[in-house]
Amino acid sequence: MRRQLTPDFAIYYDDAGSGEPLVLLHAFPLSRAMWQRQREALQNEFRVITPDLRGFGGTGAFGQTPSLEQMADDVAQFLDTFGLKQVVLGGLSMGGYVALAFARKYPDRLRGLILADTRAEADSDEGKANRDKMIEFARTHTSAEVFEQLLPKSLTEKTRRENAELVAEVRRIAGSQSISAVFAALQAMRDRPDSSDVLPSIRVPVLVIVGSEDGITPPAVAQAMVGRLPKAELATVTGAGHLSNLEQPEAFNTAVRGYLRSLG
Ligand code: MLT
Repeated sequence: MRRQLTPDFAIYYDDAGSGEPLVLLHAFPLSRAMWQRQREALQNEFRVITPDLRGFGGTGAFGQTPSLEQMADDVAQFLDTFGLKQVVLGGLSMGGYVALAFARKYPDRLRGLILADTRAEADSDEGKANRDKMIEFARTHTSAEVFEQLLPKSLTEKTRRENAELVAEVRRIAGSQSISAVFAALQAMRDRPDSSDVLPSIRVPVLVIVGSEDGITPPAVAQAMVGRLPKAELATVTGAGHLSNLEQPEAFNTAVRGYLRSLG
């Protein structure tokens, strides 16, 4: 499905089920395709809306100065087109950075927040230097090649060894993203502001999810976020790395379902 936000910018998305609206924002360098297991499992009880973030999937491209705030603005405008004033917003990794940018700018539009395998801090100096290396790499390589660099840290060693189908699926999603989106999103992530100061101001209950073996945003990072949030619970997904919703969908979905029910 597709929503035209301006004459030259449209967001592609899936919208399944009815009930409490849950909007899920995908990781880098993926698309809404990564939420298929959540859509299927949760749509019998909730309305699950999964947009492609700017540049990814079918959604229109970044402008001159890519930013995660721009992606958050897109989400707000996108929700306006449905007349949705408040939603439960969830994001995994880059999607979580966007969800936090959204929480800063549109706090009244949150009914709940799910932060999965993500962090509130900006990139460290070392992180920025790595980001620059990856940006250089992206100048001369394909999005599939960029993802190959990330793959060892995205899925556990066990998944990579034993679940060839999932590895192929994630490679397929990453490999079909445009390199210009990959390039722009890397810049946007490198330049994102620190969102740590937003955490104490979030009034809604927050569900923090983390894969027990997440090497990019490890459990200690998730725990620290929980410590700074006024109302938060932590769900650790055993046997999952960074892409916890894909590696252990049942445990991930159980945590999300329980949280959504608790919102009443
Ligand atoms: C992601 O999964 O979205 C990325 O790992 C985020 C990042 O590189 O910071």
